[in-house]
Amino acid sequence: SGRSAFVVVANRLPVDRVDTPDGSTQWRRSPGGLVTALDPVMKANKGAWIGWAGSTEEAPEPFDEAGMHLVPVPLSAKEVEEYYEGFSNATLWPLYHDVIAPPVYRREWWEAYVKVNRRFAEAAAETADDGALVWVHDYQLQLVPEMLRALRPDLRIGYFLHIPLPPVELFARLPWRQQILRGLLGADLVGFQRPGAASNFLRLTRRLLGYQTQRDQTFLPDGRVVRARSFPISIDVAQLEEIARRPETQRRAEEIREEIGSPSKVLLGIDRLDYTKGIGERIHAFAELLTDGVVTPDEATFIQVATPSRERVEQYKLLRDEVELAVGRVNGTHGRIGRPAVTYLHSSHDREELAALYRAADVMVVTPLRDGMNLVAKEYIACRYDNTGALLLSEFAGAADEFRQAFLVNPYDVDGLKTTLVDALRLDPRNATRRMRSMRRHLVEHDVDRWASSFLSALTGELRT
Ligand code: G6P
Repeated sequence: SGRSAFVVVANRLPVDRVDTPDGSTQWRRSPGGLVTALDPVMKANKGAWIGWAGSTEEAPEPFDEAGMHLVPVPLSAKEVEEYYEGFSNATLWPLYHDVIAPPVYRREWWEAYVKVNRRFAEAAAETADDGALVWVHDYQLQLVPEMLRALRPDLRIGYFLHIPLPPVELFARLPWRQQILRGLLGADLVGFQRPGAASNFLRLTRRLLGYQTQRDQTFLPDGRVVRARSFPISIDVAQLEEIARRPETQRRAEEIREEIGSPSKVLLGIDRLDYTKGIGERIHAFAELLTDGVVTPDEATFIQVATPSRERVEQYKLLRDEVELAVGRVNGTHGRIGRPAVTYLHSSHDREELAALYRAADVMVVTPLRDGMNLVAKEYIACRYDNTGALLLSEFAGAADEFRQAFLVNPYDVDGLKTTLVDALRLDPRNATRRMRSMRRHLVEHDVDRWASSFLSALTGELRT
């Protein structure tokens, strides 16, 4: 048959649409780590990927590109508003990130979420070969495992949540809490970033569905057993390090430092412009250090790259105003002509430019208020092949489980954040080397290939027995 033995289901396809001058459409593989990690499995199994092409233009027919079979799922403008911007990003996203922003609960959004999840499940059911392995990803598609199992009981189904899963005290607010849990329990294996999220899940199935659990297993009334475990995601370390080592990357890094006036130290933040990232918190802490005179603008400058994200969602518009007000204030007070205190970019950059920024930075500032993993922290470590630089990392990012040698902070604690920033800025080179070497050793051993293969072997291994 023309069907696939391995199928990935994710909200987004792993390709970006590029419109050529002659009006035709081409597709370019997106830089994401997930698609790189799955490449070998895809190639070996005639893999297929089901996802949304990211626009409301008419979805193309399934096509082959970059060694994969791609199946675009169409979304109407109304579905983008209700399923993607609404339920996914104004209900689930804030709820799962500890209600940093207030979640909005709307029944029409939920109905659109159910309808769109069914469309993804149907596309997967049509694409999967007999007994195929299907891997469903992230919070946008939590109902797909159950819907897919109902259509195709012969499949092996894995699910991975890329964002945090909150404790029962928060999750229980969701009016559709049981439906979501039942949706996830359609999988044979449910993966999370952190062990805490896996135990939240097990507790949720006991408390909200009344199911029995033992260690990582949940026992369903129909006799099925579902496992829940953590699999911390990672990046393609070798590929990014190779870019970082290129002479042109080093030249660009030097150029960046000159262009911002050759300060003695560069602090760097790189984030999607999202309220979970603690961008305002870090700018305020830096501004106070300048006001206190503990740090001078000649000594240290801050580069903040904020990638545009979910711009039609209200909370993201408010956040942009807040961040840009804070940046304007600190520059108005502490900047000079040709020397801003904070260089702020609201734009996306390719991997080469990001690698140069990571190479240019003495201190990487990663201060999310809550984050599933945070791959920026891992990217910085990957680029510091000479064991230089300091990583300041929020305790509330999944990455904090792995990098105890980072400068760990509570981003809600302004004074703690300030003293930690100063410690990281004034770190002596020997101490820096010792910390970075140990973090790199861990990262090199735990790259994204290892993440994908440990999930997939847990999924296939336990079914064979
Ligand atoms: C997070 C989510 C992903 C999502 C990405 C970008 O990393 O876990 O599922 O794709 O953000 O957000 P977007 O809404 O642009 O897809």
